[in-house]
Amino acid sequence: MSRNGAPPRVPLPKALQTLRFLVRPGAFMEHWRAELGETFHASVHGPGELVFISDPASLKKLFAADRVNTIAPGRNIILGPLLGPGSLLLQEGSEHLRRRKLMLPPFHGERMRAYEKVISAAAERSVASWPVGTPFRLHPSMQAITLEVILRAVFGITDERRRDELSGALVEILGATASPRAVGFIVPGLRRTPMYRRLDGLSTRIDELLAAEITERRADPDLGERDDILSMLVGARFDDGSRMEDAELRDQLMTLLLAGHETTATGLAWTFDLLFRNPDAFARLTDEVRAGEFEYLDAVIEESLRVRPVVPFTGRELREPAGLGGYELDAGTIVMAAISLTHTRPDLYPEPYAFRPERFVEGEVETYSWIPFGGGTRRCIGAAFAQFEMRVALETILRSCELRPGSDRPERAVRRNVTLSPAGGTLAVLEGRI
Ligand code: HEM
Repeated sequence: MSRNGAPPRVPLPKALQTLRFLVRPGAFMEHWRAELGETFHASVHGPGELVFISDPASLKKLFAADRVNTIAPGRNIILGPLLGPGSLLLQEGSEHLRRRKLMLPPFHGERMRAYEKVISAAAERSVASWPVGTPFRLHPSMQAITLEVILRAVFGITDERRRDELSGALVEILGATASPRAVGFIVPGLRRTPMYRRLDGLSTRIDELLAAEITERRADPDLGERDDILSMLVGARFDDGSRMEDAELRDQLMTLLLAGHETTATGLAWTFDLLFRNPDAFARLTDEVRAGEFEYLDAVIEESLRVRPVVPFTGRELREPAGLGGYELDAGTIVMAAISLTHTRPDLYPEPYAFRPERFVEGEVETYSWIPFGGGTRRCIGAAFAQFEMRVALETILRSCELRPGSDRPERAVRRNVTLSPAGGTLAVLEGRI
């Protein structure tokens, strides 16, 4: 039911709202939900006037209107220059749909099994590199696993030297763009310092390596036999019979890397942090996985993505007026689907902050109550990939070693690009390998 008037506004100067929202978006949204109610309005420099919503009926309506609305302005402002103009993440309307149609089939859930060995081998290599008995940070290890998986399963790079060079350049550039100083990378006037010249150089080198890979793939007589995603994109055709050009293939590869690498690694790091704080769940999971049972593992992953959603919100700009979150909103309003607020509604999840994987074992959760991958025609294209990767990586790690927490405090969330990451990197201690 619509209320009269506009959603209540965050009563702070715009500069302060911007700062708080940018630095700690999760805490910002929770605080103002508690103060103002579930639908509220914030003013933030950059994206603009934002209305946050979190009730499943409104989310359903918002995502159902994806063909009409556009993505929120400022989406990936930091990553935009790295993604390139063809990127699926940044395209709109019919151009977006055309590309999405071409890119969806390789990400079909059933296809993911082809990557099981690649994922488990990457996880095994990671476990083999961990020190025994001294605390180490799990998050960077998870990043190394997911980067290797993307380079092998998505890019399909088999030349080890090229893979190593690309991986080194990507790690450096991704690390740099995660820092707030990255603004210099996208504002040309600030690009004169040695650090930005180095990033520019790395970016050029990454493009050269990807171009070489694409050229070789186009000429590969065994293209049809290959199961990596680049090979499928090289072979795919749009409805009019044309193929993706090299420049666009490059943009989609960077998009899949940037959207799929950090997110999945962070999901894994949070899952370990939650397991470390919940020893009963950790023990049950370890026992079941070692006995070859996976129902609880899937529930653990779902519950982890609920309590600690890696991406805390996703936005749309309304092209038509709409009744959402209890208010009539004008065209032009930027509506934020507040993923972390939806996941912590007590009417949907009793004791919402408790980690209880049993919720997902005992019953089905409604589609718009669990939205770690967003929704509508812009829902994460890699959702099945990410969940499969988390499942195989967790299974491999739990089967091959004994881990314990490296700290007795739960991790605080910090912003890294569009994700919320564990601030301390999830400290763990390897007690031994099995
Ligand atoms: C736990 C891991 C991941 C999380 C939490 C996540 C989350 C998201 C979210 C919230 C969106 C925006 C959806 C919307 O606006 O409605 C998105 C979009 C996207 N994700 Fe993911 N993602 C993950 C892993 C991946 C992986 C593994 C890939 C690919 C290898 C990927 C590729 C993409 C792409 C291409 C889009 C843009 C889709 C479009 O605009 O049509 N993501 N993701």
